[in-house]
Amino acid sequence: MKDLHTLQQQFRTLFGGEGTAFFAPGRINLIGEHTDYNGGFVFPGAVDCGITAVIRPNNSSSVSIYAADLERSCRFNIMDEKGPSDMNFRYVYGVVREMMVAGVPVEGFDAVYGGDVPLGAGMSSSAALECCFSFALNDLFDGSLDKMALARIGQATEHKYVGVKCGIMDQFASLHGRAGALMRLDCRSGEFQYFPWNPEGYRLVLVNTCVKHELVGSPYNERRASCERVAALAGVETLRDCTWEQLSTLNSKLSTQDHNRARYVLGEVDRVMAVSDALERGDYEEVGRQMYLTHEGLSHDYEVSCPELDFLVDEARRLGVSGARMMGGGFGGCTINLVKDDRCDTFLDEVQHTYRERFGIDCRPISVVIGDGAHRL
Ligand code: GLA
Repeated sequence: MKDLHTLQQQFRTLFGGEGTAFFAPGRINLIGEHTDYNGGFVFPGAVDCGITAVIRPNNSSSVSIYAADLERSCRFNIMDEKGPSDMNFRYVYGVVREMMVAGVPVEGFDAVYGGDVPLGAGMSSSAALECCFSFALNDLFDGSLDKMALARIGQATEHKYVGVKCGIMDQFASLHGRAGALMRLDCRSGEFQYFPWNPEGYRLVLVNTCVKHELVGSPYNERRASCERVAALAGVETLRDCTWEQLSTLNSKLSTQDHNRARYVLGEVDRVMAVSDALERGDYEEVGRQMYLTHEGLSHDYEVSCPELDFLVDEARRLGVSGARMMGGGFGGCTINLVKDDRCDTFLDEVQHTYRERFGIDCRPISVVIGDGAHRL
């Protein structure tokens, strides 16, 4: 967690007096990638790093925020229709506006925030920011929104103020996380279960490619549009409800690209269930096997991987890692690896060496600690 003491000190210097501190984490996802906006299952967990904010209502309609990591500040009025143009502050502005739409009596406030989610790692620092503020404002202004409603506030912020048509996974995980447990969420019904995560003899470790490929257009939204086209042709609301038989009868009506993308999603929905069963049996080798299959699908059918991610997954396989795949939206960020304890050090040493040789830059291992969801500090 970001050093709370420093943030409190900065709050005192800028605004005088004390504020209330809140924290919301980033997330990992064991399996179930690009399934959330298709009504499928995801398997995330909150991590122990995230966004910390010190906040205090100021009895006005004006919001003053200082982003400590960026050393930048911003001021806006909650009644302002357009909001700040600086993307970093649009997350907070969006949350404020969406909370007002949801009936929370939000007023002006002063805030200082900072974070320790590794940047560009695909661990959802933006969801952590949205959830830190939605959780805090609901608490400070006596809102009555439950965690799922708060998650939707964050998702609506991405859609309407940032332009990413994301699913619900990241915000869900940031709010509902529980130390030592992963969660399986059914994104169609909103039902979820906690799965204690205590894989004896294994470790989860992320390897950050430290690249984020800026692609033309909006590849994330394009993937979603492909899925929606196929679902519409199949006459179902989301691909979760499309069967393999239905997909095969649509073959002639679909572009190869849309067909491959839908094939990935149907397969991924099945894989999450296979992983749930394997976890119940304690069969971590099977969990890992499914992770590799997910990566193949994301790389070849869904086409959201990149050479750096593919390389890290190939290296993991070569070095005897039980399971590895890219994690999150794609085009950079990190891989998630399920590694036997006794192979972990060799894997990390070797992969850092070969990655540097191949790409001329360093990749960065991040050990995973499953932490709690958003809370007051
Ligand atoms: C991003 C989105 C999520 C999800 C993942 C892919 O993290 O914010 O909603 O779609 O990509 O699984």
